[in-house]
Amino acid sequence: MMYGTLAQFYDALVKDEEATQAWVALIEEYVNGKEVLELACGSGEITIALAKDGYHVTGTDISAEMLQAAKKKKDHDLVDWKVMDMCDFQVDVSYDGILCLCDSFNYLLKKEQVQKLFTQVKSHLTKDGVFIMDMHSMDRLLEFAEEYNEAGRIDHHEYQWTIQTIEDCIYQNFAFYDEAGRVSLEQHIQRVYDPMWVKEQLEALDFDVKIITDFTFDGIQEGEKLFYICRKKS
Ligand SMILES: C[S@@+](CC[C@H](N)C(=O)[O-])C[C@H]1O[C@@H](n2cnc3c(N)ncnc32)[C@H](O)[C@@H]1O
Repeated sequence: MMYGTLAQFYDALVKDEEATQAWVALIEEYVNGKEVLELACGSGEITIALAKDGYHVTGTDISAEMLQAAKKKKDHDLVDWKVMDMCDFQVDVSYDGILCLCDSFNYLLKKEQVQKLFTQVKSHLTKDGVFIMDMHSMDRLLEFAEEYNEAGRIDHHEYQWTIQTIEDCIYQNFAFYDEAGRVSLEQHIQRVYDPMWVKEQLEALDFDVKIITDFTFDGIQEGEKLFYICRKKS
């Protein structure tokens, strides 16, 4: 199960306080109102930071283990947590902002899932509500054309982490070895989409779409991540 094991090591591997603060600032800039739904919130770093900033946040993820990790954190009780598949949700509430951050979008491997996500997001936004998501740029496929390899030690576990591109997907393989020598393996596949195709899908649903590269540059530029700020027009 994806994140079944990684959940307990996720923050140690990827937590980035500066990026969390940059996300909060970006959300403050574009979301009018305080009702926020975060899809695929993972271990809840941004979720809890937003709640501390005064937002009423519902944090959702398909992985119960990731939400367990979130619920161990200080101030977790400021957030309403729910296990939920971002491709299949229906709640009786509308939100001022819906978020899907830190490559979570790339876990959708089929174009139909992307279209379903966008349709559901639109139907859960208030008038003038905003959907904010990010995804890997196409440059990332080139970055991992040659396998990336990392090894280290976290919480009494040795780990190995490889990342490699195959066609339009990024494959991440994790191995965690406990002190008794038992190994837990996980493979994650993330699909990288043509950014113009993604924009077209959003515009077909009457979203006004602004794209920023790596928090800073307007439009689609060379970089790691593309941020989509999508305001519902109708
Ligand atoms: C790279 S993590 C990002 C987590 C979080 N957004 C953050 O800021 O760190 C990707 C997350 O997407 C979640 N995920 C993948 N597919 C999902 C789906 N179909 N529905 C909901 N969550 C999903 C995973 O469980 C994982 O927690």
